[in-house]
Amino acid sequence: MANLICLGAARQHAGERIGVNPTEQGAGCIPQPRVYATASLHDVGVRALSVLGLGAVAMRTVPMDASRRRADSEALERMIDADIAAGCTPVAVIATAGDVRTGTVDPVDRMLRIAHDRGVWLHVDGAYGGFGVLDERVRSLYGDMGAIDSLAVDPHKWMAVPLGCGAAIVRDGALQQRSLVIGRPDFHHFDPATRADVGSPFDEFGEGSLYSSVDFSARSRSLTVWAALKEIGMDGMRARVRRHLDCARRVAELVRMNDRLELVAEPELSICCFRYIPAGSSREPSTVLDKFNEAVLKGIRARGLSVPSSAVVDEKFVIRPAFVGPNTEIADAELLVREVLAMGDQLSAR
Ligand SMILES: Cc1ncc(COP(=O)(O)O)c(C=O)c1O
Repeated sequence: MANLICLGAARQHAGERIGVNPTEQGAGCIPQPRVYATASLHDVGVRALSVLGLGAVAMRTVPMDASRRRADSEALERMIDADIAAGCTPVAVIATAGDVRTGTVDPVDRMLRIAHDRGVWLHVDGAYGGFGVLDERVRSLYGDMGAIDSLAVDPHKWMAVPLGCGAAIVRDGALQQRSLVIGRPDFHHFDPATRADVGSPFDEFGEGSLYSSVDFSARSRSLTVWAALKEIGMDGMRARVRRHLDCARRVAELVRMNDRLELVAEPELSICCFRYIPAGSSREPSTVLDKFNEAVLKGIRARGLSVPSSAVVDEKFVIRPAFVGPNTEIADAELLVREVLAMGDQLSAR
């Protein structure tokens, strides 16, 4: 929902830039809309395009750079310019700050400059990785977060508040409301003459998001964020993020020290992708190794001491711990590596 709301604002921005109003006229008033992101874009981004009436056809897949994980900004620049020359309308550039498979952060600053030089909206999907900005060691990856147009970030991930709490942060609040609201309904909270909010002593309990979200009434999701911050504060949150980045780095360090393990993606945030290599096996992508690592993962998940997830990275099935649990410590990261080694040894002995 957070990504949908942010991209809805981007659609409104693109429309107003060329003198049309998609909220009223429908998405068809924007000629050949285009949205730019790499293949790492989370599926919810594509769903948002569909709901917004832009369609998957609007999606332009930006190639990755030599790291094979981040957007190639030069290619992005060429694609947008070619599209503009062909009469298309760039609606948004989407940078992912913490991709779901490896936790890699796109070059936000470069993408921002390219987008803004052409009057295009820059959205950041930081659903998982947005909070990584709190760790000084990786702060520069995020560039100038104050200059981006919108950010989606999930307090229900790294902040560990109850599920269903995503946040859409949009710089231009008035534009964001225009992207959803056609006129204002004459409900009791508004003075019909002035359309201004009618204040009450209960306002201090919070306004909700009547005009900035898709639903009208909703439970107070932000209360859980407030409570988490009240409990651990900014410093506590920063310490948590730092500890989780340390966990991923510790896994990488242990993996590098052991020739039965292969580090498939160097951790950037709190995700580390690696796999077990039975003695004598090549490290090339292979179905046999994939199946073997699936069995390792299944085995350790069934034991339940460590429950990492998986991903496919560079055509390899990898074990993918994503450290976000509030109680997870370095010792848990070390335990995970021991579990993988023990299960891999056991299965290869068979
Ligand atoms: C980058 C990114 N975007 C969007 C999502 C979807 O968020 P949610 O699971 O809160 O719907 C995720 C979930 O993992 C994600 O990592």
